[in-house]
Amino acid sequence: MQDIMLRDFIVETFQWLHAHPELSYEEQATTAKLKELLQKEQVKILNLPLPTGLVAEIGEKNTPLVALRADIDALPIDEETELSYASQTKGKMHACGHDFHTAALLGAAVLLKEKEKELPGRVRLVFQPAEEAPGGAKKILDTGALKNTKVIFALHTSPLYPVGTLGLSPGAVMGAVDSFKVIFSGKGCHAAHPNEGRDIIPLVAQFISALQTIVSRNSNPFAANLVSVTKVTAGNTWNVLPETAELEGTTRSLTVEDRELIKTRFLALAQGLAKAFGAEVEVVWKAGPPPTINDETWTKLAATVAQEDGFVLEKATPSLGGEDFAYYQEKIPGVFIKVGTGLSAPQHSSKFIADPAALFPAARLLARLAEKALGVLP
Ligand code: NI
Repeated sequence: MQDIMLRDFIVETFQWLHAHPELSYEEQATTAKLKELLQKEQVKILNLPLPTGLVAEIGEKNTPLVALRADIDALPIDEETELSYASQTKGKMHACGHDFHTAALLGAAVLLKEKEKELPGRVRLVFQPAEEAPGGAKKILDTGALKNTKVIFALHTSPLYPVGTLGLSPGAVMGAVDSFKVIFSGKGCHAAHPNEGRDIIPLVAQFISALQTIVSRNSNPFAANLVSVTKVTAGNTWNVLPETAELEGTTRSLTVEDRELIKTRFLALAQGLAKAFGAEVEVVWKAGPPPTINDETWTKLAATVAQEDGFVLEKATPSLGGEDFAYYQEKIPGVFIKVGTGLSAPQHSSKFIADPAALFPAARLLARLAEKALGVLP
């Protein structure tokens, strides 16, 4: 395919994906479209037990093996852009740019396919479902398709950089994400006779305040840690002290150690305060993805390739947002690159836009990353 045709192919695919967003684990039409386009390009698709998403493969030599990953799911958001190719489904939108990642990886597939005979190994192209769930990465890992993979690369749109700029740094670039639900139980009673019950409202107030000391007193002041209570529910009316109270929220950190520290202190405060107030407590802790930590050596290689490709490199601004690419990085050295898609409203906003002008360079970068990585591997 000529460059100009490939550019059109990528942009058209991107716009089709954008117009047809599907939520996590519901990416049926997206997967069918990907199959159709990959088969047309004679790209091999692995036979894996994946209801949505797929893994394709390019290369004739068995080893080494490298991987490129795109996520394919959209978000439950009502699109409010004026784009001609805006979402055709109310309440669903590609508001995180996963349509961009998918189209760029397809473009990379076409570029790599053209060089298949010369490739000194194999490239696995991961079109992953349900990044937003999150946890689609685990489904891919569970298939075993990435066994013996030496390095994995992924791009993510960034509305913080102009087209032609990349945010690329070694070390932590995205946060570890945990969520919690805490249920305090006391004894309800008439508001006029608090001594006859066991009021949990002052306990909730103390607990929320005490949680703030995890970041301010227990963490290293130079670390980026976070504890947010986002939902508090208790009581029905003004003159009755409630029996129970429920809190929800999230904790974030950039290292595995800090993640542990936050959880330990959180549980100690919940249990200690509940005991002091004579109440019961139940904590439901849900672990999300670990921090996204870029491998130093492979980040260097990525930077060299990107510079050869004419990209301007910026230090990636770390975010406490989560990214399930981190699950791959627990097993395989990986690099997560933020690709400038033009200044726009933030991701997960109904007005987020990724500039299609960034697509072709992103596709070429992915293809060259895979090729160069294969070139340096034994
Ligand atoms: Ni995303």
